[in-house]
Amino acid sequence: MALPWADQPFSLIPTPTAEQTKGYDKVVIAVAREMCLAHNAMIRNLNAIYLQCEQLTVPKDQADFIIFCQVAIEVIHTHHQMEEANFFPQIAEYTGEPNIMEKNIEQHRAFDAGLTVFEGYVYKLTPETYDGAEVKRLVDGFAEVLVTHLNDEIQTLLALQKYGGEKLGPIFKTFNDNIMKEVKDKHRLLPCALGCIDRTFEDGKNADFPPFPFFVPYLVKYVFARRYSGSWRFTPCTMFGQPKPLPFTKEALAV
Ligand SMILES: [Fe+2]
Ligand SMILES: [Fe+2]
Repeated sequence: MALPWADQPFSLIPTPTAEQTKGYDKVVIAVAREMCLAHNAMIRNLNAIYLQCEQLTVPKDQADFIIFCQVAIEVIHTHHQMEEANFFPQIAEYTGEPNIMEKNIEQHRAFDAGLTVFEGYVYKLTPETYDGAEVKRLVDGFAEVLVTHLNDEIQTLLALQKYGGEKLGPIFKTFNDNIMKEVKDKHRLLPCALGCIDRTFEDGKNADFPPFPFFVPYLVKYVFARRYSGSWRFTPCTMFGQPKPLPFTKEALAV
């Protein structure tokens, strides 16, 4: 029996196909593809939370898992905050269409409340108060709406084709730089962010994402991942971008 992995229950998003983007500017395609892969990383962590949260009974496991949840949610939160703070306004500016990202902003509002409730909950949670069923219930409170948005945003970015890619490229770079500037604790954020990247996704055709130097995974694994090492047991991938089994799914524990 194949064990459930972090490609479910919330489905990953296929990257734009060559057919779909025929004749498109290569920058537009690259931005849509990278956004898609970043969104998939978030979905994998969300799935890892969802599939494992109910089976944790040992306080040490619960304490480690709480940190994993906190950081995974922080990543999702920061991503959307940075989109609204500069990426979306800059798109509105260069396209000359003030409302062009309106639907996406509305979608952000639709999952914000649930996400914020969950974030507040996991920051207060301790092994004494840990309740896996409640974790799952709170994820159910926002995940579907979030995943719909993560899908739709890729289509919005592809639709920017009519404005060309020249201005979009630098804006996207600034967005990514701003996200990195928001990193407060590298010991929490870097292992969590690397641990949801699957370089084998779509038969490895996106193995170049994210494009960082070869030594980064070593640095994260041997330096930054050590402080909260127990928390990265729950990540769907290794620090080297390879999928790994989720140890606390119902099915994994039954083997
Ligand atoms: Fe996004
Ligand atoms: Fe977004």
